[in-house]
Parts: sequence; C-alpha cells; structure tokens
Amino acid sequence: MLDKIKALQEEIDAIVASSKEEVEELRIKYISKKGLIGQLFNDFKTVPAEQKKEVGQAINTLKTFALEKINTLKEGFENNGSESAGQDLTMPGEPMKLGTRHPLSLVKNEIIGIFARLGFTVAEGPEIEDDWHVFSALNFPPEHPARDMQDTFFIEKDPDVLLRTHTSSVQIRVMERTEPPIRAIFPGRVFRNEAISARSHCIFHQIEGLYVDENVSFADLKQTLLQFAKELFGEDTKIRLRPSYFPFTEPSAEMDVSCSICGGKGCNVCKYTGWLEILGCGMVDPNVLELCNIDSRKYTGFAFGMGIERITMLRYGIKDIRHFFENDVRFLKQFESAT
Ligand code: DAH
Repeated sequence: MLDKIKALQEEIDAIVASSKEEVEELRIKYISKKGLIGQLFNDFKTVPAEQKKEVGQAINTLKTFALEKINTLKEGFENNGSESAGQDLTMPGEPMKLGTRHPLSLVKNEIIGIFARLGFTVAEGPEIEDDWHVFSALNFPPEHPARDMQDTFFIEKDPDVLLRTHTSSVQIRVMERTEPPIRAIFPGRVFRNEAISARSHCIFHQIEGLYVDENVSFADLKQTLLQFAKELFGEDTKIRLRPSYFPFTEPSAEMDVSCSICGGKGCNVCKYTGWLEILGCGMVDPNVLELCNIDSRKYTGFAFGMGIERITMLRYGIKDIRHFFENDVRFLKQFESAT
C-alpha cells in the first residue's frame, strides 16, 4: 500500500497539463471520490490495524499534495487566460497627449529667428543681479527713481542684490567680456515691484538687442528695426521713431509700428492713432561703452529693448496680461495649432 502511495505521488509530481480542461480531467482522475486517491481511502479499510496510522497519514499527505498541484496548474491557466483574452496586440497604443508651447515662447522664438537671420546671436544673463549691471554701468545717476524701492525688488535689504528690472543688464555683461564687433540679442525674465493688473505684472519678459562695431549709425538701427517689424507684423508694416530718453542711449527713441489690426486707419487697439508702441531704442551712450572698457572713439553701437508680453498681446488680441501666468489650459490650448 505504501509503495502504491509513493508511486502515485511521483506520478502526480510529474504531471504537466496543456489546457484548463486537461487540469479538470486530472482533478477527476486523482482527487474526486471515485478517483485514484479516493480508491486509496476505500482500500484503507483492508489495511491491518497496526499499519493504519502510518498509511492514513501517507494518504492524507498525498491528497494535500495532489490538491496543491492541481490548484497551481489551474491558476496558471486562469491568469494567462484573462491577460490575453479579447486583446489585439497589433492595435495602436493610446495616443499620448503632447503639451503646447506657451504663447510667450512662440513669439520669443519667432523674434529670435528674425534676428538670427540678421546675424544676431543669443546670450543670457542672471535674473538676480547687482546695482552695477542693472543701473550704474547703464549710466543711471545715483538718485534715479528706478532704483527706488517702489520699482525694484531688492533681496534681503542689501541694495546690491536685486532682481533685474530689464534685460539691458545683459548688454553690460556681454560688453564687459567681448571685444567688438558684438551683435546679439538677450531674451529673459524681468521683475518690477508693480501692482498686478490687466496691463502690468510684476514679472514679465523682454528681448534686448545690441550691435557694437566701427561705424554703426542710427541709419543701421532704423533699417534693422524696419526689417524686424516687417518680418514680425507683415511686409506692409511701417515704423516711426519718436524722440525719447533712456540713460544708456543718446539719442534715444521709441518705435511705433503701424497698427496691424486696422492697417493704420484707427481702431480701439491702437486707440484710434493708427500706431502701436513696441520698443525703446537708441545709440549706446559713449559713457556706457567706456564703463565696459570699450573705446568710444573707435566704436559706436545701437541698442533696443522690447516687452514680449506686449507684442504677444497685440499678436493674438489678448486683453489681459495675467492670462500668461495663470496656466489655465483652456487659454494655453488655443495656441496648439501655432506650435
Ligand atoms: N531697458 C528699457 C526698459 O526696460 C528698454 C530699452 C530702451 C532698452 C532703450 C534699450 C534701449 O536697449 O536702447 O524700458
């Protein structure tokens, strides 16, 4: 009897099954009442009393062993079955949604592209600056109101650590380390301590431009900016330069472009003037060149600076500057096709 039990155990141990149905057949063959192990329980009646304990234990162990084996086989088929059931592995995957480029990045990249074609490279500088690069080297007198606590964010009450209020600071950094000719633009984020409204924000973006070489003239400035305006707003765009004042340029001007919305006839965007102001510019003040150790008798230069938010608002008819910083996907998704 014990030999028979041992032989059955070896037989069960070696079982392999290729389907769920086969496992069920094996279960009936071995474990059911009329199965082989069931018969052992019947034969048990004939076992002599002194062997009953040993044989009984062996049959029980065999039954448990067989049950586990059958269950393991069954589970294997159940798992496999549910994983592949109804699945077509050749079907295309779920589409992955891509984000969209921020409207400010779209316009910034477009402006960089226009100036790149005119031979300008791109440079960047730090957002946390010192007084020298943001004000002093740009010819701001010590008592200039831009240094005022009202306009500039100072860090930890140290007046020499501040958030740059314009990207003109990068002009200085580049001129300090580069021999002319210099022809570059400087995009970046700037900060001003201003109340947030539909028209102004305490964080915004500018692109600064600088060209320093021998014989750079105001005519070069005007031609470069006209070319830029035509590429950005359309071939028919006109520009006009109005005299202005900046400490770092002399002479200085503000540039208007003909309103691209009404074509110059007058509308509510250009406040019925036909013109839109988009940037400040001028000839680099000789003092600024000298402060950066550039010989102002040999070299001249022009500079310009513009706000990316303002241009983007004009471009897409955006009425409130705060939209740029709220990251509302309903706003951002509208620029999907432009990406
Ligand atoms: N930095 C000026 C501003 O933030 C803009 C500007 C004006 C930049 C004239 C220039 C310039 O380079 O020549 O308002």
